Amino acid sequence: MLHDQSHAIFSRAQQLIPGGVNSPARAFGGVGGEPVVFERAAGAYLFDVDGNRYIDYVGAWGPMILGHQHPVVVEAVKKAADRGFSFGAPTRAENELAELISACVPSIEMVRLVSSGTEATMSAIRLARGFTGRDVIIKFAGNYHGHVDSLLVAAGSSAATLGVPNSPGVTAGTTKDTLILQYNDVPGLEEAFAKHGSRIAGVIFEPVVGNMGVVVPSPAFLTGLRSLSQQHGALLICDEVMTGFRVALGGAQERLKIQPDITTLGKIVGGGLPIGAYGGRRDIMQHILPAGKVFQAGTNSGNPIATAAGIATLQELRKNPPHEKLEQLSARLADGLLTAAKSAGVPHSLSRVGSMLTLFFNEQAPHDWPTAAKCDTARFAQYFWGLLESGVYMPCSQYEALFVSAAHTEADIDATITAAQAALQSP
Ligand SMILES: Cc1ncc(COP(=O)(O)O)c(C=O)c1O
Repeated sequence: MLHDQSHAIFSRAQQLIPGGVNSPARAFGGVGGEPVVFERAAGAYLFDVDGNRYIDYVGAWGPMILGHQHPVVVEAVKKAADRGFSFGAPTRAENELAELISACVPSIEMVRLVSSGTEATMSAIRLARGFTGRDVIIKFAGNYHGHVDSLLVAAGSSAATLGVPNSPGVTAGTTKDTLILQYNDVPGLEEAFAKHGSRIAGVIFEPVVGNMGVVVPSPAFLTGLRSLSQQHGALLICDEVMTGFRVALGGAQERLKIQPDITTLGKIVGGGLPIGAYGGRRDIMQHILPAGKVFQAGTNSGNPIATAAGIATLQELRKNPPHEKLEQLSARLADGLLTAAKSAGVPHSLSRVGSMLTLFFNEQAPHDWPTAAKCDTARFAQYFWGLLESGVYMPCSQYEALFVSAAHTEADIDATITAAQAALQSP
């Protein structure tokens, strides 16, 4: 496969843009080599600037559940553009999207639209602090909630280590009220609440983790999260930026029967355009300015074109729910990848929830960050490049989930499995 044009464009990008990318996950840092530069996308496929076609399992990192350029969404965006790009004032469409979000996710009684998942989580923890009058937020190692300063904290080694920042520029002061625990660690959670309960404003978590590869919560962990936070007057913040509308129409909270106080959304809620949202119990949401006193604002919040894409996507998901098809296709892919890894004799495990899945190069499926960190990332890189050269575009890190979309077909899945067999067989 030729990548001459990609190489030329990426070389120039490195002169113009730090690292040549506008978000680090795109830079192929986890697999080495240069990223592919894309020209267009349609359905389940991406086309690069050298004319190569790929079956896409990144889906723009999650939003494209309907596939690229779904006609209903394209039409809605065109119509919205004809009416004007941005008003910075209320529109009817914002009500419509808010109603759709609440209809899909009943724990969201009121919702505020923002422009990214990061803005949603940043605002949600501010709200939790403003509502409770407390400072501490619990976060789990290996969970990613966007580049919010106080959530950019590395794993602590013990169950209740107060946060240490993991990016230069994030001050120790900013993260001193972030408590890092291990995912699925119920005793650690109990200990943290026993020790710091009266200071804890909220617990933020990924209900199915996508950001250390797919990691599944245990039922005891989910029960512990709800009961301990409730018992101690802390808010439970379910970060469904990745899982929302994907693992079920009502997100992971529907699938896993979780009742959070606040939910954060992004990705699918904007149908591929920049939207985030946070919402939850009415009495909590009423604390946001101008209804209440917790400040949060945005020039582009509720942008009419992005809102139109979100409405069209959610309407389509409600009208023609793809989740059963996604389940079948994803199970087919998972079975094929497992068989391919087994016959290649590669140590592996696979975790899947709905259309999110990860093939781990380690025989134990991870349940937290320390177990995820044991994977053979060099073997993953080899697998990734083998697939890419066969026209399959997977997330470029062991620690990401791949996404199946409604536009994928059984033929796409089978072609992917054939490519994976070859990529895994090569020494
Ligand atoms: C669970 C989760 N929360 C928050 C975010 C941040 O969203 P954004 O990249 O739109 O700021 C992400 C991004 O991948 C995410 O996966």
